[in-house]
Amino acid sequence: MPVITFANTKGGAGKTTAVLLLSTELARQGNRVTILDADPQRWISRWHETGDATANITVVPYVTLATIQTVIAQHRPRTDYFILDLPGASSPLLATAIGMSDHVLIPIQGCAMDAKGGAQVLELLKYLEDKANIRIPHSVVLSRVNSMVTTRALQAVKSLLAARSVRVLDTPIIERAAYRDLFDYGCSLYEMDATRVSNLDRAKENAEAFANEVLGYVPNRAATRPSLSQRDVLRSAA
Ligand SMILES: Nc1ncnc2c1ncn2[C@@H]1O[C@H](COP(=O)(O)OP(=O)(O)O)[C@@H](O)[C@H]1O
Ligand SMILES: [Mg+2]
Repeated sequence: MPVITFANTKGGAGKTTAVLLLSTELARQGNRVTILDADPQRWISRWHETGDATANITVVPYVTLATIQTVIAQHRPRTDYFILDLPGASSPLLATAIGMSDHVLIPIQGCAMDAKGGAQVLELLKYLEDKANIRIPHSVVLSRVNSMVTTRALQAVKSLLAARSVRVLDTPIIERAAYRDLFDYGCSLYEMDATRVSNLDRAKENAEAFANEVLGYVPNRAATRPSLSQRDVLRSAA
């Protein structure tokens, strides 16, 4: 089962928000998602405790370097995607988590000059490749992008990163009130009331485009998982 890790050693980069958007979208598409919450602040766990249980989503709080492998082994039979939310600061888990990942996503605030936290993760990925010949697929996702920002400004950031051979997702995560409200309501975008949340449709479109682009880079194992009827056939054949 693919492990997708969100990493940026800076708090506020948009990791937890992106984790939530990807997880809820994958769950909506019928995948069983296990979120590994490695942030001691437990934002995702708190989100999960706030609302009604969200179908297809399991959240494991307090994941650490000592427990991550056991947790993954335990949940593997009931999981199509593991999504790991790392803490804001540099943590002992970072290198190990990156090494275990099928894809690392690095949210970097679209128009902020301070991309240091993202650069640290990119340096670590490069170090693993150069020194240990371990190549972990990874992409930068521009986060908290103002909806008024021109494509040209975004293109400039992309070209800058492309010059360093870093892939940037075509879909930026836009700054949306709906994405902040998710944490208060403890639900997904699809359970929100469009009369109370502004631009909800735009927010849904953006989250869906983001998740679909990520899926393009990560194999969708759910598609190869036998369907219920196929499983019956397999069971009876056994
Ligand atoms: N795309 C976005 N739209 C609106 N608010 C956002 C967005 N991304 C992040 N935020 C807000 O910014 C703050 C930090 O984001 P968060 O996802 O927690 O970052 P991190 O996990 O990297 O520390 C939170 O208050 C969050 O609600
Ligand atoms: Mg976070």
